[in-house]
Amino acid sequence: MSHTHDDLLQLLQNNKNWVNEKLGIRTDFFSRLKGIQTPQYLWIGCSDSRVPANEIVGLEPGELFVHRNIANVVVASDINCMSVIQYAVEILKVKHIIVTGHYGCGGVDAAMQNQSFGLMDAWLAKIKAVYQKHQQKVDQLPNPDDRLHLMCELNVREQVLNVCQTSIVQNAWKNQQSLTVHGWIFDISDGVLVDLHTTIDEPGNLSQY
Ligand code: CO
Repeated sequence: MSHTHDDLLQLLQNNKNWVNEKLGIRTDFFSRLKGIQTPQYLWIGCSDSRVPANEIVGLEPGELFVHRNIANVVVASDINCMSVIQYAVEILKVKHIIVTGHYGCGGVDAAMQNQSFGLMDAWLAKIKAVYQKHQQKVDQLPNPDDRLHLMCELNVREQVLNVCQTSIVQNAWKNQQSLTVHGWIFDISDGVLVDLHTTIDEPGNLSQY
């Protein structure tokens, strides 16, 4: 006989509380969401449990389309990520794509080590490529924390470029669709989200990076 573990019972109880809280704010909170999804933003972030997308930007259900993976990586060969971007841009017609990294990212840190992590190595290789591209600049810093700090920022910039280079985003711009790609970074230690000012809204901007 299957049963729900006690710690999971707590989650289900939390959900009941959350439902009641939302219905207390407005009785049609959930019924109005049914059949409509019109978010303005696509969030591409890290899977890290300390970076809960909706919560840190104060958005409710229906307001943020989300894709998360280890170290917020965007590669054209990733059918999962590409499908999310395509749906967001072509069907939902989001106005903004926000690539959000975070300081102290374990995925970025792992990619900077000469160590095998098993199956995950194939994923980390994509971040290793970013490290190799900027290695001279990064390795100049004597402190390992500073190196990771800089690499977390560089990884966001790199992934912003990868988003812009997808045929999905290129076609949207060609069709005069209003779409801006942003790079942000989150600091787990104080909860603050910062714009890295790598905002791109047309293909012509790509050459300056
Ligand atoms: Co991370």
